[in-house]
Amino acid sequence: MGVRAAIRDLPASRIAEISALGMGDPAVIPLWYGEGDLPTPEFISGAATAALAAGHTFYTYKAGLPELRSIIAEYLTGLYARPTAAERIVVTSSGMTALMLVAQALVDPGDNVVIIAPVWPNIAAPVSIMGGEPRLVALDPLPGGGWRLDVERVFVACDARTRAIFVNSPSNPTGWVISGAEIEALLGFARRRGLWLIADEVYGRIVYGNRPAPSFLDRAPPEDRLIVVNSFSKNWAMTGWRLGWMTIPPDLLPVMEKLVEFNTSGSPTFLQHAGIVAIRDGEPFIARFVARCRAARDVAIDALQACRRVEVARPEGAFYAFFRVDGITDSVAFAKEALTRTKIGLAPGSAFGPMGEGSAPLLRPRPAACRRGGRPPAPAARLRRPRKAGCAGWVERQRNPSQWALMVGFAALNPPYERDARFNSRRSTRKRSRSASSAAMPRPPASAATPSVSAAHTSGVSRGLPRSSHQLSKGGPSCSRKCAIPPLPPAR
Ligand SMILES: Cc1ncc(COP(=O)(O)O)c(C=O)c1O
Repeated sequence: MGVRAAIRDLPASRIAEISALGMGDPAVIPLWYGEGDLPTPEFISGAATAALAAGHTFYTYKAGLPELRSIIAEYLTGLYARPTAAERIVVTSSGMTALMLVAQALVDPGDNVVIIAPVWPNIAAPVSIMGGEPRLVALDPLPGGGWRLDVERVFVACDARTRAIFVNSPSNPTGWVISGAEIEALLGFARRRGLWLIADEVYGRIVYGNRPAPSFLDRAPPEDRLIVVNSFSKNWAMTGWRLGWMTIPPDLLPVMEKLVEFNTSGSPTFLQHAGIVAIRDGEPFIARFVARCRAARDVAIDALQACRRVEVARPEGAFYAFFRVDGITDSVAFAKEALTRTKIGLAPGSAFGPMGEGSAPLLRPRPAACRRGGRPPAPAARLRRPRKAGCAGWVERQRNPSQWALMVGFAALNPPYERDARFNSRRSTRKRSRSASSAAMPRPPASAATPSVSAAHTSGVSRGLPRSSHQLSKGGPSCSRKCAIPPLPPAR
């Protein structure tokens, strides 16, 4: 075909291989992608609409609107131990674009980047596109399903052609969270060897302990060769917007501005205006989203741990369950069969690196059900139902035990808020969020320009969610009595 070998040889996404099989089937519970099912809250969407109406539709600054860069810098300074200056922020058209720009800036053909894995496959691909070698160093799997980083093995993997070490924490797919001591060790090694450190912290706010995830921004001075990638996608339910940012050393700004110019020429102006509002007024939404993910995590992990042949630990961060299934050697075949037999969409472990083969797919949380006092949410029930069509029951019956690995994105399960009328308007969120549901939601912190918040669920119908979730949202027979979920108001 005449395309570059590096592009021709890029492997197709194994997650897409599975999702293509089930996309559009309303019976499928899709847990294969890195998103929940909440639409972007209204106060953010409304800000974008207002910015469009106000004529913010022109070319803009390559590094992003000064107001957006400033508020991101303030936000990071508030979160982490060291201050971050606005001059270090470059707004990008998604976290993914930031990863691509970083590879363009750092990787020559023949260079390698040492990447801590299992890892989201899109992190290695930009290195390959640039003609470099993504060199995966696996976390050590612990008995019971946890993960541990051996920094010495990262150091040993680095050679004269290594340009950077890549760390994603909290991790997609394992949920592993790096410690402060490990950050120090990696920073010290990178300084001594003149290497770059690339930290993907897009899940930095989605953690289940009492403290935020340790960040490289806690410990590195501005002049360190450190790039921290971030995104609006996860914290503010903005996956489809394609808006992100990176924090870079000040010297790198002219380089990144050049690259932005030749890639996107800047992120859409009206979206950046909404990004300002997301950061300024978004903390209550983030708090609710994390609480929702925590509940969903518990549902997913309880269900999985109830399976004899499944090994999984409760993840500390992000919204995935990366589990091993004894007896599974081909995670793609497993995920396909699970989809056919149980209608649950899982991501195959092998998509996340060779060490993911033999693990099971990721479960993402779907707003599912009432946990206490009610039935378990449908996906969890399907996973553990021992004899019927449940995935776990099916897992239990598999012969040929030997290995493991799969992933579930649990950001879409979500029990407690199912009981909350304010969150219980999935069916017609898009149609009526501006009126009824926004009126029922708490107001964001006082701000004249801020529209009201709506964090209602996405429609089970419009997103192809499980019928059982849809039933729940209607206060259907499975749930209305025990969980007191009020019926949905009629859609307009
Ligand atoms: C680890 C990680 N980094 C970066 C991204 C990119 O996010 P986005 O391109 O939506 O900003 C994702 C998305 O799933 C991710 O899981």
